[in-house]
Amino acid sequence: MADVTSTWTEPSNTPLSLLLLGKGTDPASERGVDCPGDLPAPSDPDLVARATAAKAALGDRVFVLGHHYQRDEVIQFADVTGDSFKLAQQAAARPDAEFIVFCGVHFMAESADILTKPDQKVILPDLAAGCSMADMAVLGQVETAWEHFQDLGITDQIVPVTYMNSSADIKGFVGRNKGVVCTSSNAKRALDWSFEQGSKVFFLPDQHLGRNTAVLEMGFDLDDCVLYDPHKPHGGLTGEQLTDARMILWRGHCSVHGRFTLDSVREVRERVPGVNVLVHPECRHDVVKAADYVGSTEYIIKALDAAPSGSAWAVGTELNLVRRLALAHPDKQIMFLDRTVCYCSTMNRIDLPHLVWALEELVAGRVPNVITVDEKTAHEARVALDQMLALP
Ligand code: 13P
Ligand code: SF4
Repeated sequence: MADVTSTWTEPSNTPLSLLLLGKGTDPASERGVDCPGDLPAPSDPDLVARATAAKAALGDRVFVLGHHYQRDEVIQFADVTGDSFKLAQQAAARPDAEFIVFCGVHFMAESADILTKPDQKVILPDLAAGCSMADMAVLGQVETAWEHFQDLGITDQIVPVTYMNSSADIKGFVGRNKGVVCTSSNAKRALDWSFEQGSKVFFLPDQHLGRNTAVLEMGFDLDDCVLYDPHKPHGGLTGEQLTDARMILWRGHCSVHGRFTLDSVREVRERVPGVNVLVHPECRHDVVKAADYVGSTEYIIKALDAAPSGSAWAVGTELNLVRRLALAHPDKQIMFLDRTVCYCSTMNRIDLPHLVWALEELVAGRVPNVITVDEKTAHEARVALDQMLALP
């Protein structure tokens, strides 16, 4: 069996400042939010023992959910790990847990709050764990776009669809306009359902997931899709373009997956003959088109579990997950698609000191960092989330 140390190559440091590993603050963005409590020092040698003890003391009162992009030091304490879809299902399926500690990002914790009972508390160990893609669609901008579609007389034909990676108020907008939420593992099913309800889809906020699903999985032409730029009057589109389009894509993207390029795919194919290229659908269209396989984080994990021993894989998604998969499969050559590191800096905000702090606060009878969605928004967003959970 091959030794992983001979096959896994750590990517070099990115030349961009990505606020790695949760160190430092950025006062100009939500990532600058300080923790309201006394965090244990990252160098504390007892962190693992403290997290274990706090979790044991809480017993069934706490349930810890962990997204696949979380750090190893955190994911080891998750009761369930999963992609966005599985974590939403799991949050909804734990009515007896008093506290859901969500090791993921803000929009996931909001969805968990919406899907859990009113007396359950959802806790995000670091409030600075946001998502830059979710921030790219602001409710006021989306409502302005919708009013423009109303002026054009096309809203009756449009079904709004939002990716899970959006704020609760965007999900609320979609719910009150008879749309649906989707994740990267059910986007095609959500679009199939939507095109049974109407003839156009307004897809928020990830242009790439929308375009990749419509073109590569549903047989649409690139010309069927238009890109609505919220920073331009009328999205930068003519009335005719909007009237003719089948997919109106919001101009949003994931900056982590946006780092993978067609050059990275070409380069790895040259360097490793026979390599399988496996990417997340948040990657750009040309990258996904050039890849061999595409799917959510859960799909990526299953594909590598099932891959034959000795096969080679270049994986285009967040680095914590790819490194963990490479270490878990020493008999397969698993490499990172890009030459430089590519962490999600906000997922990385949840580190062991924040998790220990949140769990110990709960043991002490204080409930920190509760994520709460107001009742009206939660009700409307739930309509769109329930529609997703009910997709055939
Ligand atoms: P999935 O885990 O649903 O594939 O989503 C990836 C992601 O970007 C989460 O933020
Ligand atoms: Fe948001 Fe991209 Fe990070 Fe996912 S990987 S949480 S989409 S920034």
